[in-house]
Amino acid sequence: MSKQRKLVLFIATSLDGYIAAIDDSLEWLFQVEGEGDNGYSEFYGTVDTVIMGRRTYDWLLAQELEEFPYKNKACYVYTRSSREDNENVTFVNENIFQFANKLKAQEGKNIWLVGGGELLQSFIEEKLVDELIITIAPTILGEGIPLFKKGDYQLNLSLKSTRTFNQFVELHYEVK
Ligand SMILES: NC(=O)c1ccc[n+]([C@@H]2O[C@H](COP(=O)([O-])OP(=O)(O)OC[C@H]3O[C@@H](n4cnc5c(N)ncnc54)[C@H](OP(=O)(O)O)[C@@H]3O)[C@@H](O)[C@H]2O)c1
Repeated sequence: MSKQRKLVLFIATSLDGYIAAIDDSLEWLFQVEGEGDNGYSEFYGTVDTVIMGRRTYDWLLAQELEEFPYKNKACYVYTRSSREDNENVTFVNENIFQFANKLKAQEGKNIWLVGGGELLQSFIEEKLVDELIITIAPTILGEGIPLFKKGDYQLNLSLKSTRTFNQFVELHYEVK
């Protein structure tokens, strides 16, 4: 029998734990000198499914990219409002525990939880995250959109590996 696929958070953060500036800007992140694509394509090849919160999806759309970046993956966007699916994404408001476990029970590659912090909080509270790959930028923002929101949870992690990509440090954890 094949091993159940994992739900993995892969995200970049400031040293003080923010995933975006207060105005949603990621300029501070793009300014950092990394190395190659900082492990992105290697990670991207391990997933076939992508989940994100509606605010992250809207941020992506606002970038007016030539092409939707996750075109060849099944992409789900969590929202409590009703929005029409399109060729790139399916909007969901299903119970997170049931939805994630349904996906995990299907055959396939790993599932990427893109973020942001608000959606992540629900996944963490339901203990649905199997691994976290967190890339730390050498930036202290002071305020912004938090990676980890306050909540009713404690996760004990086991460190699998660390890597550096020039100025970035990647921490790879497994949830115990
Ligand atoms: N640094 C990085 O690598 C990185 C990665 C991802 C995102 N970001 C940044 O993070 C920011 C967005 O993060 P965020 O924490 O503010 O928002 P978010 O988690 O992306 O989205 C929040 C929205 O998701 C929906 N949602 C959240 N929890 C839900 C639940 N339990 N059930 C149903 N829907 C739920 C709601 O949508 P509705 O309001 O539509 O109901 C909520 O307003 C953006 O600036 C983005 O660029 C950075």
